[in-house]
Amino acid sequence: VRLRRRLASTTAASYASLFPIDKYLYSMRLSDETLKDIMNRFRREMEDGLGHGTNPTATVKMLPTFVRSIPDGSEKGDFIALDLGGSNFRILRVKVTQDKKQPVQMESQVYETPDDIIHGSGTQVRALELFDHVAECLGDFMEKQKIKDKKLPVGFTFSFPCAQSNVLEYAAKTGKIILTWTKKFKASGVEGTDVVKLLNKAIKKRGDYEADIMAVVNDTVGTMMTCGFDDQRCEVGIIIGTGTNACYMEEMRHIDQVEGDEGRMCINTEWGAFGDDGSLEDLRTEFDREIDRGSINPGKQLFEKMASGMYMGELVRLILVKMAKEGLLFEGRITPELLTKGKIETKHVSAIEKTKEGLKKCMEILTRLGVEPSDEDCLAVQHVCTIVSFRSANLIAATLGGILSRLKENKGVARLRTTVGIDGSLYKMHPQYARRLHKMVRRLVPDSDVRFLLSESGSGKGAAMVTAVAYLCDTLSFE
Ligand code: GLC
Repeated sequence: VRLRRRLASTTAASYASLFPIDKYLYSMRLSDETLKDIMNRFRREMEDGLGHGTNPTATVKMLPTFVRSIPDGSEKGDFIALDLGGSNFRILRVKVTQDKKQPVQMESQVYETPDDIIHGSGTQVRALELFDHVAECLGDFMEKQKIKDKKLPVGFTFSFPCAQSNVLEYAAKTGKIILTWTKKFKASGVEGTDVVKLLNKAIKKRGDYEADIMAVVNDTVGTMMTCGFDDQRCEVGIIIGTGTNACYMEEMRHIDQVEGDEGRMCINTEWGAFGDDGSLEDLRTEFDREIDRGSINPGKQLFEKMASGMYMGELVRLILVKMAKEGLLFEGRITPELLTKGKIETKHVSAIEKTKEGLKKCMEILTRLGVEPSDEDCLAVQHVCTIVSFRSANLIAATLGGILSRLKENKGVARLRTTVGIDGSLYKMHPQYARRLHKMVRRLVPDSDVRFLLSESGSGKGAAMVTAVAYLCDTLSFE
C-alpha cells in the first residue's frame, strides 16, 4: 500500500529524476529509426541465406523445411508428437478427426529432462543418453496410453537448427541433420548426425515397442501448422520463449538451395543467429557481451541472447549488479545472491512488470536477494526490467517486420493481410510483451493487417499435422 501511494504521488518530473538509469541504459532504447535499420539489415541477411552463392557463409541460415503447404483441414489420424527443446519436454497423443465440433483431441504429459543429460559433455556415448531418455519417456507414455502394441506414426518437434541431408526425402522421414545445439543444450557428439536415426536406434535398442518417426519439424514450423489448422491465412510461425526464432512461407523461385520454382516452401530462418557475423555490434551493450561471455556458446546466437527468455533475467541481474556497484541502487549493498548467475529469472521480470502487484513482487524478489531494497530501489528495478523487456519486443518486431515486408513484396500487394502464429513462454507470460510487440510491428509495417494468433496447444499439434501429411505422402508413396 505504501508503495502504491508513493507511486501515485510521484509526478513525471520526480519520476525521471529517480532514474539516472535512463541515461545509463540509453543504449538499450531503440528509436523507430534504428528499428527500421535493423529491419533492413535483417532483410539483407535473409536474402544472403536464400541465395546460392551467399548461403554457405550466411549467418541467418534460412533452412528449407520441405513443408510445402499449411494444413487444409482434411488431415486425420492418430499420432504421437514429441516436443523437445523448449522449456519442457512433452509427449502428446493427437487424434485428428473430421468432427466439426472438436476436430483435434489431445492428451499430453510433461517429462523432466535432467540437466546432466542436456549438457551431456564428455564422450559420444554419454551424449546419446539424451535420445535414450527420449525413447524411455516415449515407452512410458505409450504404456500409459495402452498403445505399446501399436505402431503409431510419430512427429518430432525438435527445436534446434536442422538441415535436410537429402533433398529428395520430401516426407522428411530421415535425414534431419542437427547443425548445432542452441539454448541450454550441449550434448556432445550429436551435432552433424541424423536425429531420426539416433532416435530410431535408441528405440530399437530397447526393443519393447515400435515407432515410426514420420517427420521432424522445428517448433516454429509446428506453431505455424498448429495455427494454420485454424486460420488458413497463417504463413508465419514465431517462438518467443527460452529461445527465439521464426519461419514463414517463401516463394520456391527465391530458394536457391532447392530445385523447382513452383509454389512455396516453409523456411526456418533461425534468426537467433542474426548478428553472429558482427552485424549488430553497434547495438550490443556491455551487458550483452557479458551474457555472451558467460554462455555455453560464446559468439553464437547473439540476437537470441539480446531478446529471448533464457537471458532476460540474467541481463537484468547484470545491470543491477553494475548499478549497485556504482551506488545507484540498494545504497551500494551487494550480496552473494545478487552476484549469483541465474538468481533473477525471466519469470521474475514478468512478475515485476505486472501493473498492479509489480512493485510488491519486486520488493519480495529483491528482499530474497538480501539487498534490503527501498521503495525507490523497487521503482528503479521495475524500470530496468521495462527497458530490457521492451528492447526485446522491439528487436523482435524489427525482424518480424523484415519477414512481413518481404511477404508483402513477394505477393506484390499494396496491403498485406496475414496471420502470424505465435508461441513461447516469454510472449505468453509477460504482462505487456504481446501488446508492445503488436504495436511496434504495426508501426514498422504500416500497410498491413496482421493477425497474431496464439498457439493454444504449443507446437505439438502442428507436428501431428506435418506427420499427417508426411504419413499420407508415405503411404501413397509420393516420396
Ligand atoms: C533456438 C533454436 C531454434 C528454435 C528456437 C526456439 O533459436 O536454434 O531452432 O526454433 O530456439 O525454440
